Amino acid sequence: MAEATIDNPPVEKRVADGEDGGVRRRDFIEIAAVSFGGVGALSVLYPLISQMAPSKDVLAESSTELDVSAIQPGQAVKAVFRKQPLFVRRLTPKEIAEANAVDIGSLRDPATLEERTKEGHEDMLITMGVCTHLGCVPLGAGEGEVKGEFGGYFCPCHGSHYDTAARIRKGPAPLNLQVPEYEFTSDTTVKVG
Ligand code: FES
Repeated sequence: MAEATIDNPPVEKRVADGEDGGVRRRDFIEIAAVSFGGVGALSVLYPLISQMAPSKDVLAESSTELDVSAIQPGQAVKAVFRKQPLFVRRLTPKEIAEANAVDIGSLRDPATLEERTKEGHEDMLITMGVCTHLGCVPLGAGEGEVKGEFGGYFCPCHGSHYDTAARIRKGPAPLNLQVPEYEFTSDTTVKVG
């Protein structure tokens, strides 16, 4: 081992002076602090991330399966999808004809019935039961409820009228009743969400 001289001070002195292979003591303290900071940040992040991940019951609610075989033409049922009302309605040939007779260019939120239903199932209209004005539940899906001036749904809160394709036709609502994501998993079963 080389003898300590003025030009080559002992290791203890070099560390005390803040030099040892180019890494000063303050650097070590800073690196250590950053490392602990990283571990701390991770341990804070993990619960946040695990809270953000949907829990099992939320995942279970993220889709709804419905048997639509019992819904007769002219009937509608109310279901629940992600804690909100869902209207499932089987249109009569007359209601389909009324929806198709509308000049699309005259609509506030232009869309055809075809675009709002699934191919081969144009008689099955599935929409959220939430008025696009301020979120009331429109009438028209329940037995004997008024359906408004256009034969679809009527929101009694501020008088929005929806037609047989659940498109907004009159009143303050800006948009048609929303059609959720859904698919027919069989001729009689629909999976919403
Ligand atoms: Fe439906 Fe206002 S909430 S018209």
